[in-house]
Amino acid sequence: GRKVRIHHLRELKERGEAWPMLTAYDMYTAELFDEAGIPVLLVGDSASNNVYGYDTSLPVTVDELLPLVRAVTRSVKRALVVADLPFGSYQLSPEQALETSVRFLKEGRAHAVKLEGGHHFAPHVRALTAAGIPVMGHIGFTPQSEHILGGYRVQGRGETGEALVADALALQEAGAFSVVMEMVPAELAKQVTHELRIPTIGIGAGPDCDAQVLVWQDLAGLRRGKAPRFVKRYADMAGILSKAATDFAEDVRRGEFPAAEHTFH
Ligand code: KIV
Ligand code: NA
Repeated sequence: GRKVRIHHLRELKERGEAWPMLTAYDMYTAELFDEAGIPVLLVGDSASNNVYGYDTSLPVTVDELLPLVRAVTRSVKRALVVADLPFGSYQLSPEQALETSVRFLKEGRAHAVKLEGGHHFAPHVRALTAAGIPVMGHIGFTPQSEHILGGYRVQGRGETGEALVADALALQEAGAFSVVMEMVPAELAKQVTHELRIPTIGIGAGPDCDAQVLVWQDLAGLRRGKAPRFVKRYADMAGILSKAATDFAEDVRRGEFPAAEHTFH
């Protein structure tokens, strides 16, 4: 099939066809999601707490994310691969954002980058776009700012809704090709989606966004414990893997693995 390009995503918006996005951090998930027809894969900084075992998305570094981006881009045929810029790798200046993004495109072979923030980051988006790098924005609840936002909380309620709309418009004006909205009231997300020419991608932002994104370990039920309200578990991978490991352990302890068919003579 044909490679997914940013203009295809704009065309889907114009036709009113919703599309899915998933995170991916390695070869098998990238291959499977690409073959399942997921047009956009995000190597999220959520690798921080879904791959590397940190408790938040803040600690993960460019050097930790780059090999994951490379693995995903090597493993897809069609999907557009977006590399998330981690905390501290772009906030200093548009120049820093460009330097980091160039690494993700040259070394990681990513097709686009994503960064968190509203109108304050319009100059960063403009610099990247001018350099030929497509940028996905991310507004609403932005995990890299959890300490200033006071934890995982819905953003844009009441009077702050107008500021969120202005942030979305500023990102579009600066050249962003799409914008993620995280934990935003559905009514506000719908309004932003109508006001923007570029696609909106929701996570906890209701059904009226142009696209929807989930972290794959959440979708697959690999992450245990209480999931956020916006997560739907489509499988019980934690259960499947846990059973496989305990079954294997039991077989080994009983001397039932390896059997004759697994053995060379
Ligand atoms: O890092 C991530 O997984 C994300 C998505 C949830 C949008 O930013
Ligand atoms: Na992220």
